[in-house]
Amino acid sequence: MIDKKEATTDLKSGKSSKSTADYAKYFQAPSLKDAKKRGKEDITVHYDFTIPEEMKQIGKGLHYLIRTYGCQMNEHDTETMAGIFEAMGYTATEDTMEADVILFNTCAIREGAEDKVFGELGHMKHLKRNNPNLILGLCGCMSQEEKVVNKVLRSYSEVDMIFGTHNIHRLPVLLRDAMFSKEMVIEVWSKEGDIIENMPKTRTGDIKAWVNIMYGCDKFCTYCIVPYTRGKERSRRPEDVVAEVRELARQGFKEIMVLGQNVNAYGKDFEDRKYGLGDLLDELRKIDIPRIRFTTSHPRDFDDHLIEVLAKGGNLVEQIHLPAQSGSSEVLKKMARKYTREHYMELVRKIKAAIPDVSLSTDIIVGFPGETEEQFQETLSLMKEVEYDSAYTFIYSPREGTPAASMVDNEPDEVKKDRLQRLMAVQNEISLRKNQEMVGKTYELLIEGESRKNPEVLAGRTRTGKLVHVKADKSLIGTLVHVTITEAKTFTTYGELVTKVEV
Ligand code: SAH
Ligand code: SF4
Ligand code: F3S
Repeated sequence: MIDKKEATTDLKSGKSSKSTADYAKYFQAPSLKDAKKRGKEDITVHYDFTIPEEMKQIGKGLHYLIRTYGCQMNEHDTETMAGIFEAMGYTATEDTMEADVILFNTCAIREGAEDKVFGELGHMKHLKRNNPNLILGLCGCMSQEEKVVNKVLRSYSEVDMIFGTHNIHRLPVLLRDAMFSKEMVIEVWSKEGDIIENMPKTRTGDIKAWVNIMYGCDKFCTYCIVPYTRGKERSRRPEDVVAEVRELARQGFKEIMVLGQNVNAYGKDFEDRKYGLGDLLDELRKIDIPRIRFTTSHPRDFDDHLIEVLAKGGNLVEQIHLPAQSGSSEVLKKMARKYTREHYMELVRKIKAAIPDVSLSTDIIVGFPGETEEQFQETLSLMKEVEYDSAYTFIYSPREGTPAASMVDNEPDEVKKDRLQRLMAVQNEISLRKNQEMVGKTYELLIEGESRKNPEVLAGRTRTGKLVHVKADKSLIGTLVHVTITEAKTFTTYGELVTKVEV
């Protein structure tokens, strides 16, 4: 813990009234340098998560609010934290005025993501004036960065606690410390923790559920902060994953999204067995749940066994998110993606041959340091060649501490923005064409809820992940139906109900 009034200087400068050594006594500050280290230590799985006795009823009559940024991993962490809050007696709220604890579960992937959080944090100051007991916390990937913690210490004294991605299970203890002291509580582990099973979860919705199968990333793509903020790759034991999916099936969930930063590396850290993602999905295939998806796949580790298993179909749906990042082998090399355009295309060919109806999506970065117009053209041609169903496209954003951040980057912003526009135009054309090809055909649809824009219309997804709007009775929400597509747009399609599929 640290007295906020004294915390006006840089953590590492040692110029404040306390020495660096004193700070270390008070809290654990993040270090990207330490986070980069990959040790050989075994990961222990803990099954004994508990909430300290004195915290079990602490939230009675109180409200919590969690703002979530970033990827599905963060969304799922939020479900765990929500579960922990509710196990302490707290009730969820969306109203900042009503909240007694507000957590920002942050994302560090691009500068824009961080700016958004700092902007929002600034708006929280006035809430503290209304409710001096309000606890304001920062967690997630931004907390793992030294520069962020320094900035919060310097300029956001309204923050009461900061913790990272490796010690979510410590939330009750850190909350207790933040409640009972006037000091800012900071505990960020730069080395990944063990795997903690059996944490409570409050899931959003009762149709689709996220299931983490692994944590961390060892790929160190040169532009990416994730290996530093999420630690080394650690896989959950298959028995624990299978048990969780079985339980979700029992509870009536219809779709599972299997999660990991690089799910194709699943099991590589097991010392006692040879077991990979293909083996796990083959196991999950046998569970009585209609749909299983997974994300994110790294093209490098996508092996033939996995393709074989996916080709069996059943509840393993025909959708693969396979981020290419670039269509230029030279850029891919600088990104340290460890595959070439040719290798990627060969993988796509194999997947399409084994799973004819497969829908592929990708992530693309434009404006990577030194990317030339010719190299960008190769990305455009890759998109046309693969014919993705959809793509997430980004302008490169330098991340402090990553190798790419110190590469020469002379391309003006305008050029990068222009490339992004051109890339999106190409993809939109492909997406529209692919959606138009669906018109007149019949698909299985999982109805997920009311359309966001029009509550009279329901929205659902095909096995391939296509959004379909359909007029149907609300009682069909959460069920599988058949629809015939009648109209297609770039990001959505419209359909007519045919029959209900019995499951
Ligand atoms: N583990 C996933 C990606 C997680 S991050 C994978 O490897 O596919 C999601 C996407 O954000 C990445 O695929 C990449 O396209 C993008 N991204 C990551 N770092 C970025 C950066 N510094 N600038 C711009 N986009 C970035
Ligand atoms: Fe980042 Fe690469 Fe890991 Fe994906 S695989 S999280 S892009 S380092
Ligand atoms: Fe963002 Fe962390 Fe996910 S940086 S994309 S929230 S792993």
